[in-house]
Order: sequence, then C-alpha cells, then structure tokens
Amino acid sequence: MLLKKGAEAVVKSVYFDGRPAVLKERTRKNYRITELDEKLRSQRTRTEAKITGEAGRVGIRTAQIYFTDENNFSIYFQPVEGALLKDAFVNSDTGRIAKLSLKWGEAVAKLHSAGIIHGDLTTSNALVLGEEIYVLDFGLAFFSKREEDMAEDINLLRRAVEAVHNEDAKAIWGGFAKGYTENAKSGVIAKAAEVASRGRYSKRNKA
Ligand SMILES: Nc1ncnc2c1ncn2[C@@H]1O[C@H](COP(=O)(O)OP(=O)(O)OP(=O)(O)O)[C@@H](O)[C@H]1O
Ligand SMILES: [Mg+2]
Repeated sequence: MLLKKGAEAVVKSVYFDGRPAVLKERTRKNYRITELDEKLRSQRTRTEAKITGEAGRVGIRTAQIYFTDENNFSIYFQPVEGALLKDAFVNSDTGRIAKLSLKWGEAVAKLHSAGIIHGDLTTSNALVLGEEIYVLDFGLAFFSKREEDMAEDINLLRRAVEAVHNEDAKAIWGGFAKGYTENAKSGVIAKAAEVASRGRYSKRNKA
C-alpha cells in the first residue's frame, strides 16, 4: 500500500522477511541529469541509513532499519504506528501541545548532543507514539558539534512551524525551546535567535 509520494521518495507499506515494514524508495527525478540524480539518491540513502542507525544507537527514538538496498536507493524500516506530529498538533488542546512540543525539544536536544544535525526538522518528519516522539527522515542529516549548525537546524524548525501551524506556532516554539534548553547546551537557542535576526537584517539590507 502506498503511504506517501513525497518530493523525493515513495513510501509504501510492505513486508520484509515476513515482517510488516515501511519501504522508502528515492525515485528518479527526470529534471536532473542521470549522473547527478543517481549520485544524490545514493548519497541521501547512505546518509539516511548511517545517521538513522547512529541516532538509534545513542538512544533517540527513530524507526529501526531492517535493510538498506543501496542499488535501488531503498531502505526498509520498522513501521512506527504513530500519528504525524503535524496532525497531533492540529488535533490537540493547549496542554497536549505544550507536552508534545516539550518532548520534541528534548528529542532534538539529544540529537544535537550526540553531534547529529537533522537538516529537515519539520512536523512531517516526526511521529507521536503514546507520549513519545520519534524522529524520521535523516536523508539530509550530518555530523557536527558546531553551535551554529545546531542553531540553523532549529531555525529551520521554527520557520517550518510558523508556516504550517500558524495559530499554535507560539505555543509550539515555547514548549520546544523549554524542552531543548533543559537537555542541551544553553547557548544554542540564543544563538538561533541571533542567526535569525542576522538573516532578517541582511534581507532588509538587500531590499
Ligand atoms: N518507519 C515509518 N513508520 C511509519 N511511517 C513512516 C515511516 N517512515 C516514513 N513514514 C511516513 O512516510 C512519510 C514520508 O517519510 P519521510 O519523511 O521519511 O520521506 P520524505 O519526506 O518523502 O523524504 P525526503 O524528505 O527524504 O524526500 C512520513 O511523514 C511518515 O508519515
Ligand atoms: Mg519527510
């Protein structure tokens, strides 16, 4: 069964080795020349396999990988039977939004403390199972201990939240920042604000 046809990948509900699995296959993009297309699909598949595995090893909740089929740009994952964080936020009251965003902040703080920058932290790349947050979609992730990279990761998240969850964005950001600060280096949230204001400043100057 097809779960999702995204910008980059087709995600299907399948079986692997007799077990239910989620197959994520990066499909060909005809607008890219073949050589570059295969290089990107292969790179992102390898990155996703490597960093998802590392995230799991350092105790971050994510989908376990059953098998990586590099030749077909495909990964077979354990199915996480949760709701998208995006939908969970839309369907929750203030108290639950506060709780879920706090947990999301904790999860991202743990990622950053392990030296993992996600690269695409959106509410479509996280699932809620019970009271826990699972982080998915590590195709654009990389390893870094630089606070600047952590701050950028967080600013992307903030912009994504503002774009998708307009009226709840403030509450989500508040909970996220609290959960993050309690579990990571204290300077990163401040640095994120600094980087964001610099961005706005330079944009204003260009106009
Ligand atoms: N292991 C999993 N268990 C349950 N659902 C999953 C799992 N992996 C992916 N999904 C679902 O499929 C959707 C798309 O997956 P994912 O975000 O990894 O791909 P994508 O956004 O198309 O990839 P990319 O951003 O690399 O193009 C997720 O939002 C989620 O709903
Ligand atoms: Mg995604």
